[in-house]
Amino acid sequence: MFAARNRHVQPFRVMVLMERARQLEREGRSIVHFEVGEPDFSTAEPIVTAGQQALADGHTGYTEALGIPELRARIAKFYRDQWEIELDPARIVVTSGASGALILACALLADPGDGWLMTDPGYPCNRSFLALVNAQAQLVPVGSDSGYQMSAEIAAECWQDNTHGLMLASPSNPTGAMLRGRDIEALSNLAVERGASIVLDEIYQGLTYGGGSGHCGTALTLSGAANLYVINSFSKYFGMTGWRLGWMVIPEDAVPPVSRLAQNLFIAPPSISQYAALAAFSAEALAEHERRRDIFETRRDLLVSGLGRLGLRVALVPEGAFYLYVDIGAWGMNSDDFCSRLLEDYGVAVTPGTDFGTHQSDCNVRFAFTTGEDQIRRGLERIGDALTDWGFS
Ligand SMILES: Cc1ncc(COP(=O)(O)O)c(C=O)c1O
Repeated sequence: MFAARNRHVQPFRVMVLMERARQLEREGRSIVHFEVGEPDFSTAEPIVTAGQQALADGHTGYTEALGIPELRARIAKFYRDQWEIELDPARIVVTSGASGALILACALLADPGDGWLMTDPGYPCNRSFLALVNAQAQLVPVGSDSGYQMSAEIAAECWQDNTHGLMLASPSNPTGAMLRGRDIEALSNLAVERGASIVLDEIYQGLTYGGGSGHCGTALTLSGAANLYVINSFSKYFGMTGWRLGWMVIPEDAVPPVSRLAQNLFIAPPSISQYAALAAFSAEALAEHERRRDIFETRRDLLVSGLGRLGLRVALVPEGAFYLYVDIGAWGMNSDDFCSRLLEDYGVAVTPGTDFGTHQSDCNVRFAFTTGEDQIRRGLERIGDALTDWGFS
């Protein structure tokens, strides 16, 4: 008999969709991939070289549970160089991706029966991480009126007796929406007032466009709040999804319990990846990451204008991440049917809104612009054909 908590862990639909798209490709079909939430670039050359060197040097064993000291210090230097923040490397925990950090944060902070506020739509796996510790997600519907983000007012309104924290992301998946500095401060004040914690996922930090009006880059510039846990990752901006490496900046008093949890749950983050990641902050690698960021921005603009011409409404032109959340309500089809017919009949893979929650999820889909401009144009053409065939244009 399987444990009851399994009932609360939903499939990550985008993974199922990706498998189906790949199966169709194996059968000889041409597929345009707008479903994949990872950069289509392979890891930058200086990082790959450092990884090869790590192997040659025999860095193939366990490391310290919280990560090698050189990498923790290098991450601290990154915050100093980028935002002039002085962080004690002891507060930096290297993890197996942001996923590892989120699991540690939930294990540390959420008791059975606790509720955690998060936006709907939002990153679906957060609900499962809470389910693992028998806590529960308290979904807060957000839409274009609130910029697809949480605010202190909304959080206060949705607060319940068992609410013990907030899980937020900026920029967010699936909308790319960002929290302003003043919003993070207000949320943080609310959380302190109510004895709650904030887990803020900054995994798309660095992937921001057009100056990101008013956004602070990282919440660590704003607040020395004792209740703030900032998550980050080498997956997205640093292009290292498969290396499974991330980090978390935690309050000083959380270091000993997180250390015990990390020792028990993971033993250590991947060794070769950690040595490789030391090169992710080199001037050469950072220049490459910035070049790729510019490419994402160009793709975003291409996709927004192309979808606009087809009459598909992008409620929010995202300032960050690499996703567009698009309202398909006008096409009289729910998002699961829309995505399934688009994939099966036209070879375009897009993720249904139902992956990200229940609020208006039937009439929204997520496009990831993690594919090249030619593919984006091809995808737009095929969507145009679909809309014509379905009688919408
Ligand atoms: C908001 C968010 N958090 C966490 C993750 C997991 O990232 P990682 O590959 O670092 O485990 C993702 C992956 O798409 C994400 O979108």
